[in-house]
This record gives sequence, structure tokens and C-alpha cells, in this order.
Amino acid sequence: QPVRLADYRPPEWLVDTVELDVCLHPTATSVRSKLTLRPNPEGQAGAPLVLDGDELAFVSFTLDGAPLDPSGYAVSPTALTIKNLPARPLVLEIETLLNPSANTKLMGLYRSGKSYCTQCEAEGFRRITYFPDRPDVLSIYTTRIEADVMEAPVLLGNGNPVESGPVAGTSRHYAVWHDPWPKPCYLFALVGGALDRIVEPFTTASGRTVELGIYVEPGKTDRASYAMDALKRSMRWDEETFGCEYDLDVFNIVAVADFNMGAMENKGLNIFNDKYILATPETATDVDYARIEGIIAHEYFHNWTGNRITCRDWFQLCLKEGLTVFRDQEFSSDERSRPVKRIDDVRVLKSHQFAEDSGPLAHSVRPDTYREINNFYTATVYEKGAEIIRMLKTLLGSQGFRAGMDLYFERHDGDAATVEDFLTCFSDATGADLRHFTRWYSQAGTPRVNVETRWDKTARTFALDISQQTLPTPGQPVKQTLTIPLVVGLLGPDGSELPLIRSDATSNERSSGILVLEGERACFTFADLPARPILSINRGFSAPIELRTDLSTEDLLFLARHDSDAFNRFDAAQTLAMGYLVATAAALREGKAPADPNALVAAVDSVLADHSLDAAFVAQALSLPSENDIAREIGHDVDPDAVAAARKGLRQVLGGRLAPALIAAYERLAIPEPYAPDAVSAGRRALKNGALDLLATARAGDGIARTVALYRTADNMTDRLAALTILTHAAPQEREAALEDFYARYHDDPLVVDKWLTLQALIAEPETLDRIRTLTRHPAFSMGNPNRVRSLIGAFAAVNPSQMHRPDGQAHAFVADTILVLDRSNPQLAARILGSFRSWRQLETVRRTSAENTLRRIAQADNLSSDVSDIVMRALG
Ligand code: ARG
Ligand code: ZN
Repeated sequence: QPVRLADYRPPEWLVDTVELDVCLHPTATSVRSKLTLRPNPEGQAGAPLVLDGDELAFVSFTLDGAPLDPSGYAVSPTALTIKNLPARPLVLEIETLLNPSANTKLMGLYRSGKSYCTQCEAEGFRRITYFPDRPDVLSIYTTRIEADVMEAPVLLGNGNPVESGPVAGTSRHYAVWHDPWPKPCYLFALVGGALDRIVEPFTTASGRTVELGIYVEPGKTDRASYAMDALKRSMRWDEETFGCEYDLDVFNIVAVADFNMGAMENKGLNIFNDKYILATPETATDVDYARIEGIIAHEYFHNWTGNRITCRDWFQLCLKEGLTVFRDQEFSSDERSRPVKRIDDVRVLKSHQFAEDSGPLAHSVRPDTYREINNFYTATVYEKGAEIIRMLKTLLGSQGFRAGMDLYFERHDGDAATVEDFLTCFSDATGADLRHFTRWYSQAGTPRVNVETRWDKTARTFALDISQQTLPTPGQPVKQTLTIPLVVGLLGPDGSELPLIRSDATSNERSSGILVLEGERACFTFADLPARPILSINRGFSAPIELRTDLSTEDLLFLARHDSDAFNRFDAAQTLAMGYLVATAAALREGKAPADPNALVAAVDSVLADHSLDAAFVAQALSLPSENDIAREIGHDVDPDAVAAARKGLRQVLGGRLAPALIAAYERLAIPEPYAPDAVSAGRRALKNGALDLLATARAGDGIARTVALYRTADNMTDRLAALTILTHAAPQEREAALEDFYARYHDDPLVVDKWLTLQALIAEPETLDRIRTLTRHPAFSMGNPNRVRSLIGAFAAVNPSQMHRPDGQAHAFVADTILVLDRSNPQLAARILGSFRSWRQLETVRRTSAENTLRRIAQADNLSSDVSDIVMRALG
């Protein structure tokens, strides 16, 4: 039953053109599809034609214009199979009937509010019509869409608009769209509805004019302007950075309220979860603005990395996703602050991907087998996939990397490619041997890299003994070594950067700041040093590894004060914090008093005092590793209550001891100015509100009173939500009134209500579970909308570990019941939430037993979807 990469065979039949005629109706949408097929010269001659379906209602079909004898074919909701076809070009016409209103899986053609929309990646097109639903069948699509004029005045398809008009004698109208670029069916999309739009022209580098449109629910156009601005910047950036120009006359984006993922890169017609489009200062936070910018860029960049060059099969998903995440990260780095973006990205990588990689759901960036492809849209495929591209760039240098990308676009435009195709472009363009590097794609697990330093005072040399090890992961008991590029620097006693002179290297590597570890261990020696240097290694997080060094507390404090690499300056303080938090959680469990965190306090103090630093960077330095990060670092026998208590205690100490500096920062930055979403302004707010958060947590410096005032006077959502968050967590006596006030202000705005739901889901108190139960019956909540479900239940399960893993198991039971209910309507969403159990094995025994029993109960439930059963089976191992 699992699909295996090793079993890949080219398609037997190719589809050159697809003509679709879709007559939209709420419960009876007819789809007529005309396919021109021909045998694939690379397939087996005489193979039957097997077209995929999923819950399809078959109406009729003809072959070359004539009906077929029933003995010649077999049809079911999941397949249309035709045997004994002549090996020559054929025309197949198929009619199916759909009920978009009943489509709660949000895959295929469904309704969001009153609109019609589609989601076809990965295997949703087969829910619209019978088709070879695989990414290596590329066709040219022409789509006619017809609908009631009142119900759906706007009709959108892929490619360019061709014609439109009324359907004579009816209340209906139609539009025809033609996409000249061959594409796999997962990139098909259509939209129909009463939507408003904003439109702006864009002139491409070669001087073509493109009409950019963003469609939103009526009355919401004023919230789409930031997305439009981000789109234009993305288009320009891709031209300038990668030479990629847009290739149609129009580019449309539609925001829908019901969407399983973030967004989708359908050719010329991106469809977005509306939370990643809609923003005004009053309704969206700085973080929302940054995400909108990143996701707009991501989907747009797919036009080349994903659409013009697509994937041969779904095992190659990282070919488009890892590369496109890398591209959107680079875009945001160029538009905002590079070090701050890197810190953000590494935080996400560690909290999602490292967690995935260290538990039962670990898989390689290119898996070699899957049961349900929907479950592989993961942090590993996306984020670790992007890290591999980043390492490739580090190893080849900017020019080598760009040469490889140029060759990739030139050689594979129009192809359904593989990871090997991609890497070959880089070795062909640069002469590099990437065979060892390729292991990153096939080996799961995060390598542990250990660094020991030796200072030889008489020889004035500094040696690094570096070794690597990757622990077994499911299905991969024996691990190989990986290519690990470590960017290094050496700091002198005054904090200056020392020249690197490697005595172990060949002449052209001698001054290179990149150490490449390929084997299990290696020694690198630096010579001619005036004094014992301080090592700064894995700068910019050059390799996605768990790093262990013998750097002392003093060394880390020194790096936190002086490292010229901003990422490592941040990371040194995080390492100090993590060490303290792990020790404190252990002490608390043994009833011992925590140690004094004076080194960390000093590190944060020196960052706070350095006014030359980017405010956003200082804000990052103030925020501690999350409870989940601390739990992962502890690794086994975790008591989430002890972790939460350790973290809260440290925040109180920081707030108390740094109060004067925090008050100064708050007052310096709390000057009224009109809201602007740019990175510098956002960074100032992040630091201001981060300082306030620590003060309020410590009940120092009038923190609570200042927060109450900020809540009342805020003129933007960033400040108001920051204040509400502080009050909710740090001032229980203010909490209910503030939450009530917030709901009264924003109850009409579902995306803001989502913030209100999440905030309550994250309260680290035993009453939270009851609060969530009550909220599931609140009029603002709906199990039918993925954003609502994720905001309440998803957030609780994923980021409130002390309550999710209550020792009495009641939260496990509640989340499991919710998953089982959800599985009947929206399996993809149910499976996502189930993923929050992925770290269950690291819990202490009472909680671990509860989690295991809960997973077993889910596994035994009747009629599980393939999505949920795949996750639960792998989670149990
Ligand atoms: N390709 C989309 C993106 O990353 C994600 C679509 C995921 N769809 C799914 N059914 N899992 O931009
Ligand atoms: Zn993507």
C-alpha cells in the first residue's frame, strides 16, 4: 500500500491538452473535460489507461466522440480504467458531477463562504474529474467557467483571460481562460464568487505589462494593499536576484476564509488563506505583516521554482518547496534585517523541524516512501529543505550558486524534475563533486556536532577537534556522515576578528572561514595567534545541526558581548539561557533551589545597553527558548510543569534585575508615531513590548500599570495584542475584563477573533482546558473553519505543553476526541493537529503513558482517514 520512490515509472499516457467546462452550482456542479491523450513513448506499449478519481460521481464519457461498450472500461468513484486502447492519439470526453457545498475536506472544488474555489495540490484534481493525477503529466489547459451572474460575478482561471459574456436566455454568464504554459494538474485552479478586487500594473524587466489583481471578500479591499506592495517587490526582487521574470498577462491572487494551508501557487491564480493577505494596522500585527510579505513572495517565487520547473513525483516535493522557502527567506532578508530574519528562521527550524527530526515522525527531506502525501508538507521538507539549499550556497559561494541556478532554469524549464537533476546543474556549472552532499536529502535526523578546542600556548596554535554523529531514526538504524559546512571566526581578547591562518589546509583554503566536515571526525588548526582566541562557530547557523562545544560560560558571555556575527551573538545568549533552564527544571523537580543566572543576566544586559544594535535584534535577545525547545533539549523524562516554572522564574529574574534598563528601553521607544509596518518600526515595537513583558512578569517598574495603559491607548493591533497578551499571562486579575473588552471591539473580525482564541488557549493554568471546552461552543468558533480550529485547538495542542500534557490525561482525551470528530469532515486538518503528539516519547512516565494510551485509542477508532491513520501509526512506531 505505501508508495515507494524506487517504484517510479513514467506515465503510460500523456495528456497534451485539457479543455474543461465547469458549470458552477452550489450542489450540482457539472464538469466536462476533454482530454487529448497519446501514448508515452517512454511508457509500456498497450498499457491500460488508468485515470484517478476521488469521491467522483461519474456521468458519462466518450472516446473519439463515441460511447464505449461497458465491457471495455471500469468506473468507480476512485478510478476510470479503459483497457485495450489503440496506441495512438485519442480524445476522451468525461463528465462528472460535484457537490461543492458538501466538500468539507477543502480539497478539489469547494465553497468558502459563498464563493467557489479549488485546492488541487497534492491530489485534489482527481476530486474534480478523472485524470492522471501525478505531477509528471503536463498539459495545456483551457477552462470555461459558467455560473449564475448574481452568485459569481467574478470568474477566474489559470493563465490569461480569453473571452467572457452572458449565456443567452439565462441568468448565467461565462468566462474562458487559457494557460499557454504546460502544467501538472495540481496547479489547476478556478474561482467564482462575488469578490472585490484591487488592481495595479507591473512592468517586467523586459518591458511587458502585467495586470496584478488581488481579490477579497466584498468590503475588504482596503486590507489588501500591503499584499499588493509585497507582490510588486517580490516580482522585482526575483528579476534582480535570479533573473526570473513573470510570464503571463495577468497575475491574480484570491483570499479565501476557508483554507487548509497557508496558500497555493496555482499558475497565474494563487489562492491564499485570507489571514496571509488581509492586513490593516488596526487588525494585523507586525508579525502578520512579515508573514504576509513572506508568503506572497513564496507563492510568487513558485512561478519558476515549482511551476515552470515542477516535480517529477511527490517524493521530490522539496525540490520546489525547500528551494522556494530558501528564496522567500532571502527575499525577506534583503527587504528587512538579514541577521534578524536568520534568527527568526532558525527559531522556527529548531522548534518545528528539530522537534520533528528527533521524534517518531522523523523523515528525510526526500522521503523514499509514504502512505499519505498530505502528511509530508512538513517542516523537514520545507525548512530543512531550505537549509540544504543554504548550505549549497555556502559551499559553492554566491557566484557558483547563481551559476547553478541559471543552469537549472535553462536546462529544466518545462520539465518535471528530480533532486538529482537539480544537483547535477550545480556540479556541472561549478565542477564541484556533490555526491557526499546529496546524503542530506536521504538521511533523516539532526546531526550532533561536537567541537573540542585546544590552545597551544608555545606553538600559538588553536586546534578544533570536530566530530559528528546522527542518532537512528525510524527505518534508518544506521547513519552515514554528512557534509557539514561550518563558518568560523576567531575573536581576540579585545573582541576583534583575528585573521585565520589554517596550518592544516592547502594554500587556497588557508584563510577560508568555512570548515567542511565530511567524515566522522576531523581536526582543523589555526596558527600564528597572538593569544588564546574565542571560537565563534557555525556562524549564521551555516549547518542545521545540534552543536556542542567546550566553550565556557565566560566564553559564551564574551561572544554575547562581542561576536561580530549577529546570529552567534544571539545564539551565545540563548545557549547560556538554555543551559540554565535545563539545570533549573531539573533542580525544581528535585525540590532544589535554582542557581543564580548571573551570566545570562549580564549577557542580556550588555545587549540591552548596546544602542547601536537593531532593536529587533535586542528584542530577540530578550526572548527565551520556548517551553517546547527546553523540553527537546532535556530530551527524556520531561516534566512540562517544571519546564514552565523554570522559564517563568527566569523571566521574573530578568525582569527584576534588568528593570532599570528595561524601563529605559520602554520609555525610549514608547513615543507616539503613526504606525508603519516596516522592519525598523516593527523592531522598535518588539523591543518596547518585550521589555514591558519582562517588567510585568516580574511585577517591576509599574509593568502592569503601563500595560493597562498601553492596552487602552494602543492605535494598532501589534501594541494592543501585546498588551492583552501580557495582561492575560501576567495579570490574572486584569485578564477577564481585558479579554471581554477585546472581544467586544473585534467580534466582527474573524482573523482578530483567532488571536483572542489563541491567547486563551495558551494560558498555562489548569482552568484552560475548561475554558477551551467552553470556547468550542462560543458563537465565534466553528469546527468547519480551519483557522478557527487551529487558533484554539491547534495552538493549545502544539504550544501549551504544560496543559496539553496534564498528568490527568484529560487534555489528551479532549484533543483526541476533537481529532476524531474532525477526521470525518477534514482529515488533513485532523492529521495536522494529531502531529502535536509527535514528542510524546520524551515525556515523563505518567504523561507518556497517557499520551500512548490516547494514541492507541485513536488508532483503534473506526473509519480513520488515511491522513490520521498514517500519523498515528508512525507516532506509535
Ligand atoms: N504548495 C503550497 C505551498 O507551499 C502548499 C500546498 C499544500 N497542500 C496540501 N494539500 N498539503 O505554497
Ligand atoms: Zn510552497
